[in-house]
Amino acid sequence: MNSVLVIHGPNLQLLGQREPGIYGVITLAKINAQLKKIAAKHAVRLVIRQSNHEGAIVEYIGKAKNRFSALLINPAAYTHTSVAIRDAIAAAGIPTVEVHLSNIYAREEFRHTSLMSPVAHGVISGFGPQSYLLGLAAILDLLKNR
Ligand code: DQA
Repeated sequence: MNSVLVIHGPNLQLLGQREPGIYGVITLAKINAQLKKIAAKHAVRLVIRQSNHEGAIVEYIGKAKNRFSALLINPAAYTHTSVAIRDAIAAAGIPTVEVHLSNIYAREEFRHTSLMSPVAHGVISGFGPQSYLLGLAAILDLLKNR
């Protein structure tokens, strides 16, 4: 059975209350429930983690090799700063899809650089909560065609 690790980075536990004009009003619990539903339909095991701590995220990814078929990650603010998370993704060597609720390229300049994108299989940015669902669809497709 394929299994996918989903990681939500810092402040995403606040979805629904956090800058709703940018990130929308849907909570992380609702997004996770939608992801679980899609995964179940495709007989894929989903493990979901959220952390505000860079080291914790590095450890989740560090244990992913040989345990997960793919990684779906919204690194949130760490997207723009974390060499450690980027290196963890590169080391894991499993197909990784980077997602963002907002279009990071349409926002402040400091968000235009993603340290993750060069080591990701692909990036989905700007579709709100749908970015996660599109990201999972992309992973299911990758796993099917592997
Ligand atoms: C984000 C975009 C990041 O720039 C920001 O720091 C976030 C969320 C997004 O999903 O749009 O926390 O990754």
